[in-house]
Amino acid sequence: MRVLLVAGKGGVGKTTLAAATALASAREGHRTLVVSTDPAHSLTDALGLTGVTGRAGEWRMAARPMSVPGAPGSLDVLQIDTRARLDVAWATIRRSIGGLLAGAGVDPLVAEEVATVPGVEDVLALLEVGEHVSGYDAVVIDCAPTAETLRLLAMPEALDRLVSRGFPVEGRIARLVGSFGIASSTIEALDALDTLSRELMAVRALVTGPDAAVRLVATPERLVLAETHRARTTLAMLGHHVESVVINRVAVGEDWPAGLVARHREGLASAHERFAGLPVRFARYHDHEPVGIEALLALADSVLGDGDPLDLGAPRASAGVTSDGDQWFFEVCVPGAELADLEVAVTADGDLIVDLGPHRRVIALPAVLLRCEVAAATLDVTDSGQVVRVSFEPDSQAWPSGVLT
Ligand SMILES: Nc1ncnc2c1ncn2[C@@H]1O[C@H](COP(=O)(O)OP(=O)(O)O)[C@@H](O)[C@H]1O
Ligand SMILES: [Mg+2]
Repeated sequence: MRVLLVAGKGGVGKTTLAAATALASAREGHRTLVVSTDPAHSLTDALGLTGVTGRAGEWRMAARPMSVPGAPGSLDVLQIDTRARLDVAWATIRRSIGGLLAGAGVDPLVAEEVATVPGVEDVLALLEVGEHVSGYDAVVIDCAPTAETLRLLAMPEALDRLVSRGFPVEGRIARLVGSFGIASSTIEALDALDTLSRELMAVRALVTGPDAAVRLVATPERLVLAETHRARTTLAMLGHHVESVVINRVAVGEDWPAGLVARHREGLASAHERFAGLPVRFARYHDHEPVGIEALLALADSVLGDGDPLDLGAPRASAGVTSDGDQWFFEVCVPGAELADLEVAVTADGDLIVDLGPHRRVIALPAVLLRCEVAAATLDVTDSGQVVRVSFEPDSQAWPSGVLT
């Protein structure tokens, strides 16, 4: 199963291009699901379903994938509305975390605040994606605007860390139970949190796996391109394969003011420069909104040409270990990153923490590096773009002496 995430700033055309790509994929004979995680749903509007069926409410509220009538093949659509389900799924866990903290002597008001984990809607959206994907050949995800999407994609690893480090199971909980008389419902909640984290890691594996990629959508404006460029860097750092960029709504031809056409031509040129090494495609600015199956398929054809709409390119490992004699290196790809924005640290628990501006990736280091000391961290330019390269040297205390000599 191939998974394509269509991401980018708000309003650039993500939903339109996600729907167009999914239709093209269905036409190729792939059983395709197009799913939106943006609370501002417009997927069914873009597909022209709300107008045609006159059952707008039904389409919007559907909790399961619905087959798209008139699609050229097998296409299902799903709009995930986590807000509706938030209270049900999360309330128990939240109450119990609050209870745990309060039990541990934290002021109940503070505990309540801590337990109101930001981004919980995103977590649920991601989980729902995971629940509905089986049985499809292709899944196209119409993402929420960049900032939320980056938060969403960073969530599984963050939660996994919270669960495995913050609440190491059994031992510490048992002690807490002993000291504070914590109810068994709290333990159930921690169990639930543990399960949640495992499910999220499975979804993460799905969206970062070898058959998954991110297609970035932008418009030919300087600010949009700058934000998209930063998103590319962050996505790469988070372990995602960004396969191409689509510059949408490019004014071409005589129907548009000459000044706009010239500005967009410049924008397109600067996009090619900024995203060097990535395929950059473009879609014309239409004088009408591309809505409905026919218009979307025409758009897909003009953007993607004859190629496979879900050709995700060759995935590259975003992080990994290399060695060079007695030195080991751990490398993380961060194309376009500025050295000044990067901070790297290794924790006592054996996690490599890479901070890029406000974004953080926590990577559990492979066992071999746990018996090493960090020698240096550099930002190097290689064939596959920039890489953060942390070099390790064997720690003479930790390695058997025979290995060193
Ligand atoms: N190439 C295009 N030409 C003209 N209008 C477009 C084009 N692509 C998208 N639109 C319109 O722009 C608006 C925003 O597109 P949408 O796909 O909803 O963006 P996003 O999902 O990124 O917020 C919609 O009204 C859509 O119909
Ligand atoms: Mg949208």
